Amino acid sequence: MLRSLFELAPRCLALLPPEEAHELTLKSLELGIFPAASKPDHPSLAVGFAGLSLPNPVGIAAGFDKDARVPGAVLSLGCGFAEIGTVTPLAQLGNPSPRIFRLPRDRAVINRLGFNNGGHQAALARLQRRSGGVIGVNVGANKETKDRVGDYVQGLEAFYDVASYFTVNISSPNTPGLRDLQQPAALDELLGRLMEARAKQLAAGQPKRPIVIKLSPDIAEEDLPAVAAKLLSHAVDGIAVSNTTLSRHNLREPAAREAGGLSGRPLFHRSTVMLAKAHQATQGKIPLIGIGGIDSGEAALAKIEAGATLVQLYTGLIYEGPGLIQRIKDDLAAAVRRAGALAISDLVGTAAKSWAAKPIEA
Ligand SMILES: Cc1cc2nc3c(=O)[nH]c(=O)nc-3n(C[C@H](O)[C@H](O)[C@H](O)COP(=O)(O)O)c2cc1C
Repeated sequence: MLRSLFELAPRCLALLPPEEAHELTLKSLELGIFPAASKPDHPSLAVGFAGLSLPNPVGIAAGFDKDARVPGAVLSLGCGFAEIGTVTPLAQLGNPSPRIFRLPRDRAVINRLGFNNGGHQAALARLQRRSGGVIGVNVGANKETKDRVGDYVQGLEAFYDVASYFTVNISSPNTPGLRDLQQPAALDELLGRLMEARAKQLAAGQPKRPIVIKLSPDIAEEDLPAVAAKLLSHAVDGIAVSNTTLSRHNLREPAAREAGGLSGRPLFHRSTVMLAKAHQATQGKIPLIGIGGIDSGEAALAKIEAGATLVQLYTGLIYEGPGLIQRIKDDLAAAVRRAGALAISDLVGTAAKSWAAKPIEA
């Protein structure tokens, strides 16, 4: 039953327009139609990340559950952690539809949603009603805000009680100017204010919540060392590599002409090279989340070998369905055995050097 539902889901959903398919997926998860994963995680998959303990390193990437409607269901599907968002202080509609495009022959998606979400208060109320598991909150800025950095600080303050960690999304290509926050001078202000806001929480007796910075895969190679230096000097707790790309390389579908961020298989190479470069530029001192084009156990393993401690996926789920999560975990546990290692973390960064040496475009 579980198996056939998981296998049928992507084929049925592909018949609907992308946003309707997504809404139906969220509704099904809210109603508990997808049964929980029954298999316990292999002990070799247990992993630590910035002080958090996770049963396995596989998560669903931000954008899937923007409004914190189904974090518990995401964990029940077998994910080691869930990430909600991107949430902005005020609710906003995002860009006009259509704004998500499937590129089936490329196993890719282009989206220009533009942070459509119900705002902090709605997501916060939902998160306050649940407990247990590692749940990250991905924070962003409203399109029309007068104080972009202030919006991120508000996110940290609003969700401090309920978030296991924060992801600071400064890499969406769909909010004009947002990616400018990745420039070293802008990073100084953003990270300075975020760390100050967290220091206030610590002074008030709250625990330390890790702060992860999510980067674009389109940062110029020559700019990456300066970005890495800022992330090191502000002692961020994690880096997520990467968000979607504006590049359109080797795509077959006509929808490749659509504006927006490209995700899925064509992003795999670029985001994995960037991940390895980030691992090298930070000398492995900051744990990384590898994201971009994971649609198999092999791809997830490659991210880990390139330097990722955790992995996240979204587009792969659209094409493969939720059964992909268990397949990835089985393949990762097998890879640990094959390597004669004890834990998945023993494989982190083992191929970072060779990935970092590859050209950014395959
Ligand atoms: C429809 C859609 C919506 C997304 N929304 C967000 C978002 O709100 N915040 C964010 O940080 N990333 C967002 N992303 C990017 C994903 O989190 C991820 O970084 C990217 O899709 C690459 O992973 P993938 O190839 O496995 O999809 C979105 C991606 C898609 C496809």
